[in-house]
Amino acid sequence: SDSINLAVIGGDGIGPEVVAEGLKVLQAVSGAKVSTTDYDLGARRWHRTGETLPDTVLEELRGHDAILLGAIGDPSVPSGVLERQLLLRIRFELYHYINLRPARLFPGVSTPLDVAKVAPNGIDFVVVREGTEGPYTGNGGALRVGTPHELATEVSVNTRFGAERAVRDAFARAQARERKHLTLIHKHNVLSYAGHLWRRTVEEVGQEFPEVSTDYAHVDAATIYLVQDPSRFDVIVTDNLFGDIVTDLAAAITGGIGLAASGNINPDRTTPSMFEPVHGSAPDIAGQSKADPTATILSVAMLLAHLGRHDEARRVEHAVSADLASRGDKVRSTTQVGDAIAAGVI
Ligand code: IPM
Ligand code: MN
Repeated sequence: SDSINLAVIGGDGIGPEVVAEGLKVLQAVSGAKVSTTDYDLGARRWHRTGETLPDTVLEELRGHDAILLGAIGDPSVPSGVLERQLLLRIRFELYHYINLRPARLFPGVSTPLDVAKVAPNGIDFVVVREGTEGPYTGNGGALRVGTPHELATEVSVNTRFGAERAVRDAFARAQARERKHLTLIHKHNVLSYAGHLWRRTVEEVGQEFPEVSTDYAHVDAATIYLVQDPSRFDVIVTDNLFGDIVTDLAAAITGGIGLAASGNINPDRTTPSMFEPVHGSAPDIAGQSKADPTATILSVAMLLAHLGRHDEARRVEHAVSADLASRGDKVRSTTQVGDAIAAGVI
């Protein structure tokens, strides 16, 4: 169709600044009529009204084609309140069961790795992080809090349904890529029950994808591979918490958190998917036009691809790639980076 009806949640800290640049690039590239609705959610709203995500707002979000989110979280709000009641609530309520996080080292981007030595074939993989289960469900509790006998549990919830839909999505993505390789990351030597569920699911769903090769890495070993042999990865599938951790490391080896994009996706399309940079709200540099909007702009490319606008998505990626290649050590403001990329999409 020729319109994009977007819900925008700038959020906290640098969120609104990077989102503005993402929208700038979206307007520049898209032949569609882009209409946006801004939602004032995050720390400011919470301080003012005590609200995190009113039900009425959640319902309104459902009416959009997609959601663009900047960042959520502020040191003035108790840890976990906005994360759980706002960000995770959206992911859960809108069935964002695929948290898709590409890790690609663009030409000219510096990385702490000695690429010539450890990644001669480049770095280009994608993490399919399960988005609605694992230890993120809030299924836990505490007893005798504040006493020497305090006890806390944090239960990791893994359903066959949840693992299977994530694994099938990961296989399909691997099938569509050149190398057709899928790695399951888990920790089945200790987390035997969930590990067994995930391994069997990969084995069984794998029957549907005979062209896709598979292997397995424990999450601790995977952190070594990511630093010493990242070229081995093509598609990674993993649970919500392992996925959270390995995608920060994946960002660190591909130019840093300023470049890492993500999509919280409902592949069934019964609800809008939500696109956001992997980074947080960075309150220390908020309001100074210092944040790199590239991660948000690459998230916009993912948004366009999700809406089937593949040509526009590619043009955004090319513009980012060209900008990264010529970036060098120049220090540019948030808006300068956005302007340069927006100028490059034509
Ligand atoms: C991320 C973030 C979130 C997560 C937090 C803010 C809840 O770290 O998107 O990776 O853990 O998923
Ligand atoms: Mn994270």
